[in-house]
Amino acid sequence: MVDQKTLEDIPGVGPAIAEKLHEAGYNDMMSIAVASPADLAEKCDIGEKKAADIIEGAKLCADVGGFETGVEILERRKAILKLTTGSKAFDELLGGGFESQAIVELFGEFGSSKTQLCFQLAVNATLPEDQGGLDSDVVIIDTENTFRPERIEQMARYLGADPEETLRRIHVARAFNSQHQILLVDKAMELARDHKVRLLIVDSLTSHFRAEYVGRGTLAERQQVLNRHMHDLLTFATMNNAVIAVTNQVAAKPDAFFGDPTRPIGGHIVGHASTFRIYLRKGKAGKRVARLVDSPNLPEGEAVYTVTEDGIKD
Ligand code: GTP
Ligand code: MG
Repeated sequence: MVDQKTLEDIPGVGPAIAEKLHEAGYNDMMSIAVASPADLAEKCDIGEKKAADIIEGAKLCADVGGFETGVEILERRKAILKLTTGSKAFDELLGGGFESQAIVELFGEFGSSKTQLCFQLAVNATLPEDQGGLDSDVVIIDTENTFRPERIEQMARYLGADPEETLRRIHVARAFNSQHQILLVDKAMELARDHKVRLLIVDSLTSHFRAEYVGRGTLAERQQVLNRHMHDLLTFATMNNAVIAVTNQVAAKPDAFFGDPTRPIGGHIVGHASTFRIYLRKGKAGKRVARLVDSPNLPEGEAVYTVTEDGIKD
């Protein structure tokens, strides 16, 4: 589904400029088509006029910028897949599961099971579609070094899947800082040319940003970079008919958020770019509660589930 044209198909782009583009992280038509001339000019060390021409060329090559009728959008939405969470109640809350072509933000405090849910989604995504899976490979961008293959094995075994085969379909990259994290989305795009990747996980979306951009003066820049990152993720979702699941910590704040003294990091930038936002919290007796707080077409509500050695269950 990814564009097969190379950058040299853009008028005015020869091998030298193509190399500069690649070096700057522009590896596909879409990333150039949505770039700003000033940004592209600076990163590739070319004139702004030249950059604008390249962007226009990439738009034509990538076939972006046109309007679609409602019928066409309905047609595209028919391709939307639903990925099961492993819990019936949770799936129902989401109208059948995690949707493809969308970003789902999971936010909550430590131990609220964001990472466990990501593991379960990864295992489930490798399952056949008639079992609620996506019959697909998975990409995990791990920023906190919390990926545990042993947990994947446990969950796979419980579902009757071959643990080793499941692990083979899960591609994990550790992101060492926010720039690296952003580059890994391009790498995922490359991987998606050879493998069907219908689930991309970023756990955690915001931890590097939070650590690197400290202080009030850096907020605008942080939000700008984060915004672009979210945009790249949404492009991945659309081009690969993929589910994007991102996790987000919460920061203690004096003003309450939905009756809870916590707010998701990244504020409205992450919120607006996410198609679904789900707040996870610890409930009584080891239970976990998922609350759908933002969705374009579903009512708000809650679902209760548990985390067990075998994975996520009702
Ligand atoms: P942070 O990344 O620290 O913000 O937390 P998180 O939301 O990612 O939490 P995580 O998904 O790591 O949840 C950890 C919790 O999952 C633990 O406190 C356990 O309650 C539960 N858990 C993890 N592994 C197991 C397991 O093998 N068996 C059971 N029963 N529970 C588990
Ligand atoms: Mg975690």
